[in-house]
Amino acid sequence: MPRLIKSLCLASLFLANAGASGAQGAVHAPGHTQEPKRPNFVFIMTDDQDLHLNSLDYMPKLKRVIADEGTVFRRHFCTIAVCCPSRVSLMTGKLAHNTNVTDVVPPYGGYPKFVAEGHNDNYLPVWLQNAGYNTYCTGKFLNSHSTSNYNNPYPKGWNGTDFLLDPSTYSYWNSTFQSNRAAPVVSGGYSTDLISNYARGFIQEAHGSDRPFFIGIAPIAPHAKTAAVEGSSIPAFTNPAPAERHANKFPDAKVPRGENFNPDKPSGASWVLNLPRLNSTEVTYMDEYYRRRLQSLVVGKLEDYGLLDNTYIFYTSDNGYHVGQHRMVPGKGCPYEEDINVPMMVRGPRVPKGRTMDVVTSHTDIAATLFDLAGVPLREDFDGLPMPLTSSEMQDAKHDPRREHVSVEYWGTNIQEGDIGRTSATGAAVIYGNNTYKAMRVIGDSSNLFYSVWCTNEHELYDLKNDPYQMRNLFKSSESKLLGRDIKQVISRLDALLLVLKSCKSSECTLPWEVLHPDKRVTSLSEALNPKYDAFYAAQPDISFSACELGYFPESEGPQEGYAYRRNGDWSNWA
Ligand SMILES: *[C@@H]1O[C@H](CO)[C@@H](O)[C@H](O)[C@H]1NC(C)=O
Ligand SMILES: *[C@@H]1O[C@H](CO)[C@@H](O)[C@H](O)[C@H]1NC(C)=O
Ligand SMILES: *[C@@H]1O[C@H](CO)[C@@H](O)[C@H](O)[C@H]1NC(C)=O
Ligand SMILES: *[C@@H]1O[C@H](CO)[C@@H](O)[C@H](O)[C@H]1NC(C)=O
Ligand SMILES: *[C@@H]1O[C@H](CO)[C@@H](O)[C@H](O)[C@H]1NC(C)=O
Repeated sequence: MPRLIKSLCLASLFLANAGASGAQGAVHAPGHTQEPKRPNFVFIMTDDQDLHLNSLDYMPKLKRVIADEGTVFRRHFCTIAVCCPSRVSLMTGKLAHNTNVTDVVPPYGGYPKFVAEGHNDNYLPVWLQNAGYNTYCTGKFLNSHSTSNYNNPYPKGWNGTDFLLDPSTYSYWNSTFQSNRAAPVVSGGYSTDLISNYARGFIQEAHGSDRPFFIGIAPIAPHAKTAAVEGSSIPAFTNPAPAERHANKFPDAKVPRGENFNPDKPSGASWVLNLPRLNSTEVTYMDEYYRRRLQSLVVGKLEDYGLLDNTYIFYTSDNGYHVGQHRMVPGKGCPYEEDINVPMMVRGPRVPKGRTMDVVTSHTDIAATLFDLAGVPLREDFDGLPMPLTSSEMQDAKHDPRREHVSVEYWGTNIQEGDIGRTSATGAAVIYGNNTYKAMRVIGDSSNLFYSVWCTNEHELYDLKNDPYQMRNLFKSSESKLLGRDIKQVISRLDALLLVLKSCKSSECTLPWEVLHPDKRVTSLSEALNPKYDAFYAAQPDISFSACELGYFPESEGPQEGYAYRRNGDWSNWA
């Protein structure tokens, strides 16, 4: 089945210059007679790739091979904007408050916490193998998966692995890779190129089997390069490193100068609100850093490709990224749009070509989506739903159309990446505290809102319809109307919705209004805004924190339960 190999090579080809010589001429779908084999999956996940800083514009091959041949989801979000917790959410189908892997390092996160919470026995590749799939993975698995713990235990569920290991995961060259049960080895060469080679090896291996396959490909580009700092547990973060052949691309590229780029007036909440303005040296650095990110994303030549009729290819990033927005140096981990709204594109059988979808989806939906495509019944404990990949799926109940919210959460600190200005005397990255928050996006027919409550009890409310850069916090503004109602009424609904989402489990996370309105008469923000519910929403407890914790401690996260509206117009506790 050389066709399979050729076709899938396209996935790795645009990750690096893999010397696209072999694939000659597209091969077309054969006659459709037999029962189709279950689909294969190629899942490509980059590291820290933004949607809002236009990095995709610099990947024309990606556009040609996936976006133009498939569907782009413009409103796809991660539900926690940092690598390891986001990947664990994606691979378990659960929000971080239900995985309790909330950080990149122990005690609250990283590979050891993933194992300690039992996820290594119970996550996507294990489930897919049980469903008859061969599973492969190359690149970065989880943070704190290292040369000292890679075999204690080995990640379960994979038929083949080539993992990048800490501490050199982000060194770009001379990184340490570890294959299956073999000992780690330092591999010369550019890590993205190596990952692309490994991916092609897995495709070669997978095509020989009768079983369908899943291949996860996780290059580190365009993440910051890191280096250990002597005497510090915190590394130094420097510019991402492009392959030499791409080092001089895009000499004129600059960070887009949106309204929130290094603004005159401070914006945001908590530590963000206190940041000084970036000076001219720092702004110049932001542009240089931005170019390095782009260069490390540049992809090799893709001359030709076959079209695989039974494979879905997903392309996304674990979380987004900011460079200079709200005066922040490069980094992630904030609830703002640059960090949470991430690239997502899918091509595959039945997926419309060259389309964009505005349905609200998130990483927590991905496990459910793969299950759905593979014909495996959804797990009860999924916090997400299958993404509607086609227009007709937008209308059906399985891919519930009542999608207007995404919940976003975070615990702990925020690392300042990049090596200018805000580094400590030793060169280690500076870390800000008080980066614990609950937030959500609500995007309905008439609304496009962001709402957050930080552990400092600061609140933010942005109307992205009129304020796409999140510069005017309506929570403390003198504006009085929003969505045709008194703004206080809108806030009371948002508060109640966030109260449900901040500790929801399974279907409560996908249908939160049903927790508040068990009679199902309210299924959206606009319905909840009906004045007849004003007193009900006014009675709900307010969201608050009693401390800024570094991990998930519900006892510090204020009220956990509110009221449900009953048929007689009265209300009582949830449940
Ligand atoms: C992949 O692993 C599963 C589970 O161990 C096994 O049943 C299957 O045969 C393996 N596939 C191949 C090609 O070795
Ligand atoms: C990779 O390692 C080799 C051999 O130790 C060394 O010569 C080379 O400079 C290293 N490359 C980088 C980019 O660090
Ligand atoms: C900008 O600030 C950095 C310290 O963060 C300093 O090293 C640099 O000299 C400043 N540049 C200008 C033009 O003031
Ligand atoms: C966190 O916020 C509290 C309350 O606003 C403040 O007193 C404290 O200094 C902040 N801590 C850090 C580490 O920023
Ligand atoms: C989450 O993990 C931390 C660290 O192990 C633990 O202290 C905390 O109790 C856990 N939270 C929940 C809700 O289980």
